[in-house]
Amino acid sequence: MNRRSFLKSATLAATAPLIITNFNLFGADAPSKKLNLALIGSWGRGEAHFSSLATENVVALCDINADHLAFGLKKFPDAKTYVDWRKLLDDHKKLGLDGIVICTADHTHAFIANWALNRNLHVYCEKPLAISVEEARIVRANWLSKKSKLATQVGMQRHANQNFNRVRELVRNGAIGELKAAYAWGNRQVKPAGGSYDQEKGIVTYKGADGTDKVAGYLPDAGAPPTGLNFDLWLGPSHVHPYNPGYFALGPGANCLSWNMFWDFGAGQIGDMGSHTMDLLWNAVDAKLPTSVEAKGDPFNDAITPIKCESHFEHPANDWRGPIRTSWYQGGAMPSAPKDYVDLKKIGHGVMFKGTKGFVVADFETRIILPVGNEADMTYFKPPTKNEVLPPLGHFQQQWFDACKNPSLKTACDFEYSGNMIEQLLLGLVAYRVGKKLDYDSVAGRVKNSPEANALLSRKYREGWTLNG
Ligand SMILES: NC(=O)c1ccc[n+]([C@@H]2O[C@H](COP(=O)([O-])OP(=O)(O)OC[C@H]3O[C@@H](n4cnc5c(N)ncnc54)[C@H](O)[C@@H]3O)[C@@H](O)[C@H]2O)c1
Repeated sequence: MNRRSFLKSATLAATAPLIITNFNLFGADAPSKKLNLALIGSWGRGEAHFSSLATENVVALCDINADHLAFGLKKFPDAKTYVDWRKLLDDHKKLGLDGIVICTADHTHAFIANWALNRNLHVYCEKPLAISVEEARIVRANWLSKKSKLATQVGMQRHANQNFNRVRELVRNGAIGELKAAYAWGNRQVKPAGGSYDQEKGIVTYKGADGTDKVAGYLPDAGAPPTGLNFDLWLGPSHVHPYNPGYFALGPGANCLSWNMFWDFGAGQIGDMGSHTMDLLWNAVDAKLPTSVEAKGDPFNDAITPIKCESHFEHPANDWRGPIRTSWYQGGAMPSAPKDYVDLKKIGHGVMFKGTKGFVVADFETRIILPVGNEADMTYFKPPTKNEVLPPLGHFQQQWFDACKNPSLKTACDFEYSGNMIEQLLLGLVAYRVGKKLDYDSVAGRVKNSPEANALLSRKYREGWTLNG
């Protein structure tokens, strides 16, 4: 029975002395136990959520592109539609909303997530959770203050691969001795539409009208946006830039690669594959925020985030290991291989853990152990038995639905775990811009030795847009 026919038969059952309202027919507290959810961004990555969302009630859709809204409506014909996510959230009580799924461009993630948490809604947010350190800190703090009643998850769905648990078990159970360092890398070199990347110089250029190479910036003015695309709302809190179809050049699910390298719209590969690949490392090291960070990469471009870059972080000891250094490499930067015969470049997105007795190298699905040295006889490592291995996570989106219905259940990539991870990666971008080693006070969220770096922890927003509204 669909929502409309259910409401109709409920109205016809007038003889029953029961008053049924929209609020107790559906929603997490209703007998149906189905969540009332809204999908913000109803095309592209949004489509990847359609089949999971169809197991709950999708009561609202929001998209700044009319064609994309129509696309979502074909799948969820009973949903109310919105163009502006702020209006949707204004209506959350009317809609009987329990939670939202955010599949919009990265520069709006922390905004929408904060607004939803502040209205007591559960949130599933596509990666990255934030594109500035301040955004990561606010969204994490908002969730932590409500964590006993709200469920959150960041779209790092590869975390459900059982290899994540296997890698953690190897590192945690001492297969490589005491952990000393961990490295994650990704080899994507994504350029803006029409641009080409000079690997030697580390610059992106495009051919100007006069035939000479120009250093790439935000895309040039290409006139009015097509009818049906609300470009001003797409820009949202970011500075105004002229419309160019290059921001919408790629296909569904890959379009993020048209805009996420621009400072105003994303964090480049840090927010993109960095979120997924660092997760494989983060899951195994039990780190929180770093005490220091340093980074280097391509020459600074004030429109485009670096393609090639590497950042390094120091972490204090915890209850099972000593202090460690963690690193992120992208766009061609790579950690040194443990032995010449190991070609790390054959792994597009991978991780490596260095211990006192060897290395673990892994991609998202597989891992290898390389014992090193005369002491590395593996006698110290007892693999877990079948009954001791970490249990499978199951279905990643379902884990969030279950936690929405029972917030005492944990989600793997909640806003604390994911917020810490993205705050660290974004600190790397700040260190890259400042060009010196930064000492970080993670409690205060301040850099201790660089006022210039502190000014880069937050973004400036367009008037009328409130991050924590
Ligand atoms: N978890 C993953 O594996 C994975 C894969 C791809 C993309 N993503 C993430 O999903 C997000 C979307 O990526 P995409 O490639 O689908 O991008 P996209 O540019 O195609 O945008 C997705 C949809 O959101 C809509 N949209 C954009 N801004 C909006 C706003 N302010 N309000 C309402 N609707 C808005 C667009 O019109 C589009 O329909 C990105 O943050 C990306 O990082 C995650």
